[in-house]
Amino acid sequence: EMLEKGGFDHFMLKEIYEQPRSVKDCMRGRIYPEKGKVQLGGIKEFAEKLKNIDRIIIVACGTSWHAGLVGEYLIEEYARIPVEVEYASEFRYRNPIITEKDVVIAISQSGETADTMAAIEMAKERGATIFGICNVAGASIPRLTHAGVYTHAGPEIGVASTKAFTAQVTVLTLMAFYMAQQKGTITTSKLIELLTELDNIPEKIQVALESNDLIKEVAAKIKDSTNCLFLGRGSGFPVALEGALKLKEISYIHAEGYPAAEMKHGPIALIDEEMPVVFIATQNSSYEKVISNIQEVKARKGKVIAIVTEGDTEVKKMADYCIEIPDANEAFLPLLATIPLQLLSYHIAVMRGCNVDQPRNLAKSVTVE
Ligand code: G6P
Repeated sequence: EMLEKGGFDHFMLKEIYEQPRSVKDCMRGRIYPEKGKVQLGGIKEFAEKLKNIDRIIIVACGTSWHAGLVGEYLIEEYARIPVEVEYASEFRYRNPIITEKDVVIAISQSGETADTMAAIEMAKERGATIFGICNVAGASIPRLTHAGVYTHAGPEIGVASTKAFTAQVTVLTLMAFYMAQQKGTITTSKLIELLTELDNIPEKIQVALESNDLIKEVAAKIKDSTNCLFLGRGSGFPVALEGALKLKEISYIHAEGYPAAEMKHGPIALIDEEMPVVFIATQNSSYEKVISNIQEVKARKGKVIAIVTEGDTEVKKMADYCIEIPDANEAFLPLLATIPLQLLSYHIAVMRGCNVDQPRNLAKSVTVE
């Protein structure tokens, strides 16, 4: 088993460190930065249809649902197609309005999640076109869908999803650009610029991983907390949700992810010296707003841990701990900001003596409802 872990103490850590590679594998043969072109062979036969769709519905569970929320931001931003993101377990038992003009994207690492499969079957009966985003080739979901794009992250053993999540986000990024290309909502020069940057994201993930020692120090400071809040805005919000999920899954600390501005409608009541608050505070369109949310937490003596852009000086004046990630276009923020949150949860869980790879009560793949 030590061999399988490639020298790492846990599969989860190994999989976190595999991400520069897995994200690269996921893009291989699919992006042509110099031409400003995205090619997705798996959904090619629907290229024409994508020009005229009214709406996209994303269905998924758990971490895959968080990836779906990132996808919503990207597809709406670039392809200008309205997107709804649904928990498969809720969607399947509603009487949702689905038409033949809808495209449903089902996201699943394992490709075996019972609720996601049932949601697909229902949408299919009602005439929607179903795309899958899966990691396990030949699993049930890829067989149920009309078309799809594999994430190619390689086998994920740790129950808490890490590299599968960033691969799902990568595929959704590619899909957003592909749809934008089909619909003509993006120029070739813009695509050249974005794809050139995306091509460099694996190196930036590598740089983000280099903060590991610092993250371990931060983990030691907050490991005994009983609660933790994760806040972000825009696509930083699903990153916050995923950060909170990782922490609660493997360390059993109660954690909640919230849109930073929504904090004042509830979670702010919980903030005191005992409460660590993790902010996604990178320099993008919501930076100034996040800074005022940080001030609100500091005014109530909360402990602030901030994920910031390299070279940041503003947040550093306020936060108790700052963890830097490389600068990048806002579109790629989730791929980078997720990395330190994975490491933070990992180290906290190890320090608390938890079974990181196999947390209690959780299964890697949930094949019953
Ligand atoms: C379980 C796993 C999670 C995963 C979720 C959805 O809860 O523990 O890591 O995100 O199922 O699984 P899927 O395979 O459909 O992505």
